[in-house]
Amino acid sequence: MKPIIVANWKMHTRLGEALILASGIKEGLTDFTGCQAILCPPFPWLAPVAEVLQKHPLKQLVLGAQNIYWQGEGAFTGEVSAEMLRGLVSCVILGHSERRHYFKETNQEINKKVLLALEARIRPIICVGELRRPSAAILRDPSDLTSEMVKQPLDELSAAVKGLTPEQLSRVAIAYEPVWAISSNKNAVPATGHYAQAVAAKLRARLTRHLGEPAAHIPILYGGSVNPQNAGEFLAQPDINGALVGGASLQVRSFLSICKQAV
Ligand code: PGA
Repeated sequence: MKPIIVANWKMHTRLGEALILASGIKEGLTDFTGCQAILCPPFPWLAPVAEVLQKHPLKQLVLGAQNIYWQGEGAFTGEVSAEMLRGLVSCVILGHSERRHYFKETNQEINKKVLLALEARIRPIICVGELRRPSAAILRDPSDLTSEMVKQPLDELSAAVKGLTPEQLSRVAIAYEPVWAISSNKNAVPATGHYAQAVAAKLRARLTRHLGEPAAHIPILYGGSVNPQNAGEFLAQPDINGALVGGASLQVRSFLSICKQAV
């Protein structure tokens, strides 16, 4: 499976910056087909960034959104529905820990968003991750990691995919993002490659329980302080099929460097 590298620009960039960033990344990926890169700009920049990407489009560079609302349509001032994004974006980040924390998103709402995205032919990138940082010993050597220690991401995963048909489930992607590792959190540190792999393997096992053997083809990405220095370590893990990148996706050079380390 081709590694997927997602740029989550969060609530950053002005229009001019977003266009420069998108064009620079596009130029840098022209001759590189080793990964599938996905740019997720803020909502108002989706259409202008789409214009940049659509001029001589590259298969390896597509557009994604950072969120959708959990209802299909209606009097929900300020919200954006999955149907509004149909055809415009390929993917949508759902259940990001910032949305769970600041906007009090629940597992039930995230599950509804996943279904609406799939109905609109948009691939959900479902974010899951534990709040509590594991001990230094477990981070160094996760061979004793139990499912109980990563109950939160496993439960979040099962809740997000509840009620999906096997066909629908085969169209999702998972982003394992330990909350303690996300760069905007105080005292954040990246996970280790071994630890991220150990959790990804447990997530893969949970997906297999829901879907059987085809779960081997569901992309599991790692996110949390990924940068050009540590990306290779995460991307080399057998159950990690890509990265969800926040801070380091805001510079052409660092994002391209991460993309080009995809193996
Ligand atoms: P970070 O963000 O790479 O800045 O830690 C990742 C994310 O929140 O998706």
